[in-house]
Amino acid sequence: MSNWSPSSWRTKPAKHIPDDYPNPVQLDEVEATLSGYPPLVFAGEVRRLKQRLGDVAMGKAFLMQGGDCAESFREFHPDNLRDMFRVMMQMAVVLTYGGGKPVIKVGRIAGQFAKPRSSPVETIDGITLPSYRGDNINGMEFTPESRMPDPERLLKAYGQAASTLNLLRAFSTGGYANLNNIHKWTLGYVKDSPQSQRYSDLCDKISDAMDFMQACGVTPESTPQMAATEYYTSHEGLLLGYEQAMTRIDSTSGRWYDTSAHLLWIGNRTRQLDGAHVEFLKGVENPLAVKIGPELQPDELLRLIDVLNPKNEAGRITLIARYGHEQVAKELPTLARAVKRAGKHVVWSCDPMHGNTLKTASGYKTRPFNRILAEVKNFMQVLHSEDCWPGGVHFEMTGQNVTECIGGARELREEDLSSRYHTHCDPRLNADQALELAFLIAEELRANRVDNTAVAV
Ligand code: PEP
Ligand code: CO
Repeated sequence: MSNWSPSSWRTKPAKHIPDDYPNPVQLDEVEATLSGYPPLVFAGEVRRLKQRLGDVAMGKAFLMQGGDCAESFREFHPDNLRDMFRVMMQMAVVLTYGGGKPVIKVGRIAGQFAKPRSSPVETIDGITLPSYRGDNINGMEFTPESRMPDPERLLKAYGQAASTLNLLRAFSTGGYANLNNIHKWTLGYVKDSPQSQRYSDLCDKISDAMDFMQACGVTPESTPQMAATEYYTSHEGLLLGYEQAMTRIDSTSGRWYDTSAHLLWIGNRTRQLDGAHVEFLKGVENPLAVKIGPELQPDELLRLIDVLNPKNEAGRITLIARYGHEQVAKELPTLARAVKRAGKHVVWSCDPMHGNTLKTASGYKTRPFNRILAEVKNFMQVLHSEDCWPGGVHFEMTGQNVTECIGGARELREEDLSSRYHTHCDPRLNADQALELAFLIAEELRANRVDNTAVAV
């Protein structure tokens, strides 16, 4: 690692990073400004997350990572943040109860702006413009001005990330996450769904248990874990100029931390061993995740793990499998076996979203709920049969009542998609579908609990 520095990635091939800023000097100035701004997260928090993920790697906890595909300036609103937070809290309650293990909550939030795109250009009605690349790079509107990369957007994204984090910290430690509030987390529009009835029944059971504990003297006042929660942030470490600007030496350990988020992941399209993204992320101390998908061979995966985690530290690496509902059963066993045989400590997580995207006849990108569910089930079965812990899930969701993924208990159809299709990038689960998914995962976890303490959810 002797020749690593926060800028050493600049000499490597870098995919999906824009190189068409009209004024590169202005970009340098913005990055210099950002490097003098306060860190968004602190090294101590990052170390604590790594420890928690170490527990997941050892089968003692479960990771739940979720949020927008792409955050946007337009959807930035305290109500949206609150709604997203409360759905994640509900899901965590369901998973904790069903799985009987702590659930580590990580948002795709407070920095999840930049997107890799399948094509650098987009053509509409014979006009070709650069693709939209995320609100911290260019604008979604289909005009030449809007699609031009603008460095000022990085400052705006930093500001949005800072106030998002501020609110998330308040939600998680300021009383809102108190377990006494579990009934209140249900969103209005979910109230008449089968999920909400099921959730409400579960809350009744938990409230009964809490009354009992309270009578024994265990209260949110005496036990801080009942009054607050830990909530961590993450995003794809794609736009390396921004990540470099946010990277600082921690005075306690003397090591480099990327202070833009607690966890950074490398996307499926930027995980080349000799590429800029692997180069940058190998040098920071944050826990890392890597998206893995079709055609990755076991030897390449093992080399990637060695480069990113040479000391085989549990909690450093999460592998997020995103194969598609059928492919996962074909490709994952060989990889799981190779990782296990090599004695590597990893968290295995399942992204059932990105391998299950399709386009409808009317041109909407969507994901069928039954395929999402099938991928999670297949993932869990494969890992169980390889004697590995299926440690987590990674999904794209929102607290808003959107119509982006088809299926689910309300049987959203293709014809319904146009009604509330708001995503800036990929289709997300709405709160109803997200909660339904949590119940189904909880059932899987319960079915595989070997300690005989399984409870019905
Ligand atoms: C994403 O998570 O939004 C994404 C682009 O995923 P992947 O790298 O798995 O394609
Ligand atoms: Co996405």
